[in-house]
Amino acid sequence: MRQHTTLRIGGPATAFVTVFTQTQLRAILRRTESRREVWKVVGAGSNLLFSDQGFFGTVIRLAGDFARIEGPVDLDRENSPDRVLLRAGAAVPLNELIRRTEELSLGGLESLWGIPGTVGGAIRMNAGAFGQEFSEVVSEIEVMRPDGKVLILNRSDLSFGYRYSSLAPELIILSALLRLVPAERQTLRARIAECRELRQRTQPRGASAGCIFKNPEGDSAGRLIDEAGLKGKAIGKAVIATEHANFIVNQGGARCRDVYELIELVKLKVEERFGVLLEEEIEIVGVTQGGG
Ligand code: EPU
Repeated sequence: MRQHTTLRIGGPATAFVTVFTQTQLRAILRRTESRREVWKVVGAGSNLLFSDQGFFGTVIRLAGDFARIEGPVDLDRENSPDRVLLRAGAAVPLNELIRRTEELSLGGLESLWGIPGTVGGAIRMNAGAFGQEFSEVVSEIEVMRPDGKVLILNRSDLSFGYRYSSLAPELIILSALLRLVPAERQTLRARIAECRELRQRTQPRGASAGCIFKNPEGDSAGRLIDEAGLKGKAIGKAVIATEHANFIVNQGGARCRDVYELIELVKLKVEERFGVLLEEEIEIVGVTQGGG
């Protein structure tokens, strides 16, 4: 999994399968079910920490049909001059989607530029940055159940919060219908450039999983970790970034164990110092933990 995660950590999976169509995905789910094997869909591999022992199950990556952007989609019930619908597959990288919306002069996602994730991951985690959240543009999502049945979930069937969606872990996101707002292309371009610059200035460039912890209410995990004096603290080849304390960077060859120990250390020190128990934002995937 080291080759398939942005943190560049993780041992081997029993199987790693790239699926291009719904039919293939259904077949893989049937196969894992008959073998009583767990599975896990990994989008862009960001926000994930896989075990050094690997994953005893099938890792699924969506591509092909799942990596398409269609639209503007013409749906009578939703179309209006101030809203335009696009359909985006779950495997579309966020930056590609944002680039397309910018070309089409559609606003709503421009501040998310630079997040190393896919549409599917951004929905599941309700990715956000610089005042925008992905859920703000979600109109409906298409998902597959483990038995292969495809369902459409309306926005009203789902609830979203800070880095949270109510979507059941066993549902695989296939695509989403997104509702965007016409905007000046120049304004969108300027905002993308501004967010790129902010990100480059405040966040590390090395291999990471993004922010490790969620922000506690009304505060910043990065600020707390920084004030606890932990910037630059390293265990093995994993280090707390000097650019932003809520990132752990793999300096080359870090193990899951190094990152895990750093996480535990940070939680201990921040709680001792500020009485705040930080909660992980990243997903730590155990060897037999799958199904979503
Ligand atoms: N700060 C420090 N030291 C640090 C880091 C931050 O003092 O090492 C201070 C900053 O100076 C600032 C405050 O903490 O006053 C907030 O920092 P920043 O603006 O960098 O935002 P953040 O709350 O740390 C959040 C998201 C990021 C997102 C940025 C920009 C979380 C956990 N993090 O970071 O999202 O990119 O805002 O919107 O919600 C992610 O979710 O993976 C992620 C990176």
